Amino acid sequence: MKRMLSGIKPTGELHLGSYIGALKQFVKYQDDYEMFAFIANLHCITVPQEPEVLQKNLHDCVALYLACGLDPKKATIFLQTDVPAHATLGYIMCCHTYMGELNRMTQFKDKQAKGEKNLSGGLYTYPALMAADILLYDPSYVPVGEDQKQHVELTRDIAQRMNNRYGDLFTVPEPLVGKVGARIMSLTDPTKKMSKSDGINKGCIYLLDDLKAARKKVMGAVTDNLAHVHYDPENQPGISNLMQIYSSLNNDRPFDEIEKEFEGKGYGDFKCAVADSVCELLESIQTKYNEICNSDIIEKTLQQGAEKANVIANEKVKKVQKAIGMEIVK
Ligand code: AMP
Ligand code: TRP
Repeated sequence: MKRMLSGIKPTGELHLGSYIGALKQFVKYQDDYEMFAFIANLHCITVPQEPEVLQKNLHDCVALYLACGLDPKKATIFLQTDVPAHATLGYIMCCHTYMGELNRMTQFKDKQAKGEKNLSGGLYTYPALMAADILLYDPSYVPVGEDQKQHVELTRDIAQRMNNRYGDLFTVPEPLVGKVGARIMSLTDPTKKMSKSDGINKGCIYLLDDLKAARKKVMGAVTDNLAHVHYDPENQPGISNLMQIYSSLNNDRPFDEIEKEFEGKGYGDFKCAVADSVCELLESIQTKYNEICNSDIIEKTLQQGAEKANVIANEKVKKVQKAIGMEIVK
């Protein structure tokens, strides 16, 4: 069975974009691949965090992995810092990544361009750590949203560079970006990605949002005055975004079918249908989330996941250190 690995960095609450772009994909693939899904808490601290808030977000991230359908019997679910090899290989990767490459990474460039002050060194070198996260486990595929594709491509470059220099150390992974839903946009500004950094913004639906609030956000989504449900991201970005959400929550229903279903109907009807699908999803996730929070499944899952991940990751770090010449005893 081929391996697949991905992670989420819960610097805020998980939202519909994280679900459609990432979580839903992890769940879909867990039957056909050996799945590794981790919580990237080292990545979280690349931007300032309030300790209590971070702790809650990490807890909720595991609970939501499970509530969305990741099964600890099938997938290995773990916390990044429970596997210290991530930090070790992360440092080694940093030493094999050029500053020129890091300078080209759009996430850092965007923050810099916005004039954000006191950006950390960790944020700058974050893609090297992400390469380590991946290469430790030799996955064939890395399912991610569109915004992370560039980081997986850098990971491929680093893997190839090290394989050429030291012999075959790593499987060169491929990013797996969904055709629909790889970039869910904000409901209030469909030219911007739906993002957890939106705070209490009306444009972002959090997976733990109250159902009434979520419905209100969908009904208030920005659309256009063309008055027909049609997939055209260029001219109808708001409607196209709602169509992506609707399609993704209804077994990837093709856009032309959705267009037919709502032919001659107003945007109100369409928004109602989208809101129903969103609320149905949230209700099911939240029911499971509450059960999970009232059990000891989180601790058990993380313990079991870390045990398995540590064996694989430690072996890989040893192999890499040996190949580089960092070990003294052969
Ligand atoms: P993050 O929460 O930033 O660690 O992202 C977790 C995963 O969700 C990554 O694979 C992202 O690419 C994906 N993701 C985040 N926001 C969105 C969005 N608005 N649309 C689609 N995928 C997203
Ligand atoms: N950088 C990813 C994000 O912000 C999270 C992440 C960290 C990740 N390490 C990873 C995703 C390894 C896939 C594989 O969304």
